[in-house]
Amino acid sequence: MKAICVTPHKVNSLTLRDVDIPKISEQQILLEVQRIGICGTDRDIISGFYGEAPDGQDYLILGHESLSRVAEIGSKVEGFSRGDLVVPTVRRNCDENCLNCRSGESDMCLTGHYREHGIKQLNGFASEYASSDSAFVVKLPETLAQLGVLLEPLTVVEKGKVQTYILQQSRMKWEPSKALVLGAGPVGILGTAILRLNGLEVDTVATRSAESLKARLIEQTGASYIDTKENSLGSLPSRYDIIFELTGSPSIALQAQELVGVNGVVCYLGIYKMQVDSEDEGNTFTDLVLGNKVHFGSVNANKTYFSKGVGDLQEILNKWPGLLEKMITRRESPDDYEIAYSPESQEDIKTIVEFKRS
Ligand code: BGC
Repeated sequence: MKAICVTPHKVNSLTLRDVDIPKISEQQILLEVQRIGICGTDRDIISGFYGEAPDGQDYLILGHESLSRVAEIGSKVEGFSRGDLVVPTVRRNCDENCLNCRSGESDMCLTGHYREHGIKQLNGFASEYASSDSAFVVKLPETLAQLGVLLEPLTVVEKGKVQTYILQQSRMKWEPSKALVLGAGPVGILGTAILRLNGLEVDTVATRSAESLKARLIEQTGASYIDTKENSLGSLPSRYDIIFELTGSPSIALQAQELVGVNGVVCYLGIYKMQVDSEDEGNTFTDLVLGNKVHFGSVNANKTYFSKGVGDLQEILNKWPGLLEKMITRRESPDDYEIAYSPESQEDIKTIVEFKRS
């Protein structure tokens, strides 16, 4: 079968290989992959920054954003039928099976020895067939047969939102009304939509013009789009109850601190490049203490967030027709993998590789 692979830590080793269809164990499901999505993590792996091959293998099959149909079911698997539309989560338990991993929260793994499909020691889903432990697979309704591939990126903000509310509502009475989303990539657009579903007024800022597709999709949800080339972050009039930081820029992450209101919360969801910053960190952190503010980071998502995400994805589909379709700006075939993973243009939002057009 065709599989899009890299040799981890070897720059630009992306290739299409012919590999064997995986054999499943009694607890696993064989997935007939319909489509996968490409994100910054894939591009970082291709650039050699990270990624680890499975033990005894010198390549890693890419792909952690995916949508599949069940092709075969292990003898001990219950609750799935052939043909079911499914999405597997990304992360699997550490060998130590730490407290969080054994409690179904491998996204909060304590040891750091977790494995991740398409990223760390487990093959991903960018192949005609793939396998997953059934305990980490969620079912989707047929209405999401095309767009369910956006579930994994949506779970990033699903988890951010759920954790935000848990944190805030367990420490005080809290009725947020205004949110700021920093960044309008796929996760920024989905984050905006999720916060709008929660009834918040949302401002989303990015560097694209107000006429861009990203801006238009943001506005379709009833949020306001702000082009930072026209209005600097510092000039934003509001103090926000919730900020989702998705740009991955340390200097913007520091500025987020100044934009959050009293009792507010900043949720960092980007991966931050190391850089020396000239900001006055002392001032920044004093402000944090005096404002009783919570800053927290969040990565990965467990099955609970995937299951919740299915409902939200369906609601976005119903409430803002066309929004999810328009987010997919490129569809390529596996044979055109080089084009698919090449740098995106300014107007691109999400590139999909179609393994099976259906
Ligand atoms: C994925 C997460 C993963 C993280 C770090 C992200 O792109 O969405 O599931 O945990 O990369 O590897």
